[in-house]
Amino acid sequence: MNDQIERILISSEEIDKKVHELAEVLNAQYKGREVVLVCVLKGSVMFYSDLAKLLEFPVIFDFMCVTSYGNSSTSSGSVKIVKDLTCDIKDKDVLMIEDIIDTGNTINQIKNMLADRKPNSLKLCCLLDKPSRRIIPLEADFKGIVIPDEFVVGYGLDYAERFRQLPYIGVLKRCIYEN
Ligand code: PRP
Repeated sequence: MNDQIERILISSEEIDKKVHELAEVLNAQYKGREVVLVCVLKGSVMFYSDLAKLLEFPVIFDFMCVTSYGNSSTSSGSVKIVKDLTCDIKDKDVLMIEDIIDTGNTINQIKNMLADRKPNSLKLCCLLDKPSRRIIPLEADFKGIVIPDEFVVGYGLDYAERFRQLPYIGVLKRCIYEN
């Protein structure tokens, strides 16, 4: 284990099991339909690629990157598009893939932006959920694991752009982010 990690919260085996469970639900839900699979960069990249490999319905890959400005420490600022989708999603079935819902601010704003483009359907699949931090009352349509309010990194999630490559989700040692 990385020596900057206090403990493993979700092992790579547990992540794998949950990704398979979510894929099974999605395969039943979207059977025979073509779906635009939207990766919300960067944190979702590991979840997105592992999940996509298990999907049995036709999928179109697309990527979106946003950044928060305003009060970034609480993620309550407005969201600005850094990289937009390349697909036209009008009349398409769209599934947004997120790594974590914390306050709900990021995904709520992305959802509103994409809804304005008049997709046929717009749903959200999220691996991690931290309901104790929620400001915007928003729930994922397909939800993985509820976690406590701890500073987690790994499997795509970062602290100052680091730790994304860890194969598990771990709690970061306090001394790393309190210095
Ligand atoms: C993280 C995460 C979600 C968002 C969740 O992204 O990937 O998009 O924060 O927080 P919220 O529910 O409070 O808005 P971040 O802005 O850190 O960018 P990243 O994906 O590039 O790490």
